[in-house]
Amino acid sequence: MSDEVTIGGFGGSLRVDNVQALAGRVSSEIPERYVRPERKEEDAVDVNGHDVSEIYSIPIIDFSRLANPVSSKEETAKLHSACEDWGFFQLVNHGVPEEIINRMKQNTEEFFKLPLEEKEAFAQLPGQIEGYGQAFVQSEEQKLDWGDILFLGTLPPSVRQMRFWPTNPTSFRETIHEYAIELKKVSDLLLQKMSQNLGLEPEKLYDLFNDGIQAIRFNYYPPCPSPEKVLGLSPHSDAVGLTLLLQVNEQQGLQIRRKGGWLPVKALPQAFIVNIGDIVEILTNGRYKSIEHRAVVSNEKERLSVAGFLSLRIGRMVEPIPELVKEEGLLYRSITFEEYVADLFKRVQADSRRSQASEKHFFPPAPSASGRRLPRRPPPDPPPNQTWVRPTSQIRARVPPGLIDPHQSCDQRRPAGRTNPRPVMSATRADHADCTNPRHCD
Ligand code: OGA
Ligand code: NI
Repeated sequence: MSDEVTIGGFGGSLRVDNVQALAGRVSSEIPERYVRPERKEEDAVDVNGHDVSEIYSIPIIDFSRLANPVSSKEETAKLHSACEDWGFFQLVNHGVPEEIINRMKQNTEEFFKLPLEEKEAFAQLPGQIEGYGQAFVQSEEQKLDWGDILFLGTLPPSVRQMRFWPTNPTSFRETIHEYAIELKKVSDLLLQKMSQNLGLEPEKLYDLFNDGIQAIRFNYYPPCPSPEKVLGLSPHSDAVGLTLLLQVNEQQGLQIRRKGGWLPVKALPQAFIVNIGDIVEILTNGRYKSIEHRAVVSNEKERLSVAGFLSLRIGRMVEPIPELVKEEGLLYRSITFEEYVADLFKRVQADSRRSQASEKHFFPPAPSASGRRLPRRPPPDPPPNQTWVRPTSQIRARVPPGLIDPHQSCDQRRPAGRTNPRPVMSATRADHADCTNPRHCD
């Protein structure tokens, strides 16, 4: 297999302690590299001081209603507003056989239960992001996440590096293969419905992603004696097109950025938690948003999740689809997918030197939103009367720890042309109507 088509060649991670083993050793004192001082301030920010989870929950989309001509129109409209207003939704009745979902959950749990030496037979190699380990550790100073991962390129089959695919449990490889195919069926229909919702040719998004790279990231978050001090997964957006996440056990922990706070997502059993990634944000010229999210951990029980990332193939352009560029003008510049990925890794490296863990999780999970990051060099001059906008992830990476991230904030959406040190997205004043944070709306 040529290195060109594998994900591993995009970059690697420094070797750090295995967190599952570390969690078994520490009793109360958490090593300093895992302590996140920003959590104190950040966690205090929610909507009017309330626990935001009491007020909001992400939309639920019924996949069987999307596919059924009788209910399709209504459900497709619901999907559109979920993509525009939330960037996140839970997908139920998605049609992936329960048997495959359950086998995936079981095999994932079995794999992480294996002794460390057995898991390490599938460890990441220097300079590669695939395999068992931790993602995007780029400097000795960087804060670390309280979690381990197994990251695999899954589709098309030519991206697979089988040396990283576990052989124990014995059914795992077959399960991953079947799950990857099922995931593609689901994402294909979602992309068709999204195209329709955006007024594009029905096959437009499907065609763009049909030959794209799919990758799966298995996340294992061990229990932590001081869960309020650490993060299982640093705030990030997914640098991919779409992410479909399956929570493996009943332990919750995913939180999304919403109205200046962190909104916990209560995963429904068997559902996929779907989110828009940076690439779809760019393709839609900012219409569908790639939302920052993170994972917190518990002091009682481990948490596991399986994130399926859908991205483009090498050679594609990452740029707004011309039909979707309206009066707001072009908000993102054109870049090749290769440049996009290279930029991502550069940015992750720069962030790590500032001791921030702003990850990109994409498939190449890439690192997160991990699926994103556009311009890796200063963009060319914008056309007259236009402002180049960087994907939210790029903006996010610049926020000092402890400050509210601008990603979801209104100030990021000020009309282009207003004085603002950051690139902005064009928007109307109405976008600010429900903002509760005085820092965002002046
Ligand atoms: C990811 C991710 C969240 C979770 O893998 O990119 O955001 O709940 N995971 O594990
Ligand atoms: Ni993510």
